[in-house]
Amino acid sequence: MKVVKEISEVREFTKQDREKTVGFVPTMGYLHQGHLALLEQAREENDIVVLSIFVNPTQFGPDEDYEDYPRDLERDLELARSAGVDLVFTPKADKMYSDNAATKVEVTGLTGKLCGASRDGHFSGVCTVVSKLFNIVNPTRAYFGQKDYQQVLVIKRMVEDLNFDLDIVTVPIVREEDGLAISSRNKYLNQAERKAALVLFESLQRGKELIVGGERKAKVIEQELISNIEAEPLAEIDYVAVVDASSLKDIDKIRGEVLLALAVYIGETRLIDNLIVEV
Ligand code: PAF
Repeated sequence: MKVVKEISEVREFTKQDREKTVGFVPTMGYLHQGHLALLEQAREENDIVVLSIFVNPTQFGPDEDYEDYPRDLERDLELARSAGVDLVFTPKADKMYSDNAATKVEVTGLTGKLCGASRDGHFSGVCTVVSKLFNIVNPTRAYFGQKDYQQVLVIKRMVEDLNFDLDIVTVPIVREEDGLAISSRNKYLNQAERKAALVLFESLQRGKELIVGGERKAKVIEQELISNIEAEPLAEIDYVAVVDASSLKDIDKIRGEVLLALAVYIGETRLIDNLIVEV
């Protein structure tokens, strides 16, 4: 496994054999089972697997956890090696963003809702760095986790709109045994908060149960999710959404593919989770 910091080194590596397919997994590091599932699928489906580890400053708001975001490169490299990664790209921020950079990639519409509504500029930061990484790595396929459902939708839109020549592959959410969606930010939770965090998945499941039981009013499902979360003293809702799964638009009636999505503060930690229900 090769570990490189320079953009030119990535280009050199992926250009060695143009016939080979390249599976790309972009991450901010602090790898967990969710990332390993992406790497495993990338390994199965491609000749070469490239992993990037870069905590992207432009996707964090001024009051967010950029400085504190968990980092452990040595451990990440060990995990990457055992996952069969061929190349790890760990650029420095000043190599990704020059002082006179003046370009941002902005997807409109989809980014004004859910996480985009509460994290101003977040998706612009994500789309800008992901476009740059796609241009550097030139992958055949790129792998993203369904936990960041809106991110995947926004990136798919961007890929289509800007004619990037690659496939976006979505990999299902990986959960702890008790249902908590695996996330680098789970590390911030103390024991009581870890227990309280179960309210996210439990509420989503409760919403799904209602739908499966025949409830078709989106507002009723949304209210059920809200009441469940509000019953947990350590939880504070950022948003609760019951929306069309492809447009993220509000719906009155549950029909077709519906996204139940949550962002909830457990103590100081903002966690997200979602579930797709099809009727
Ligand atoms: O999902 C993430 O970890 C990040 O948003 C990504 C896609 C690596 C861009 O920085």
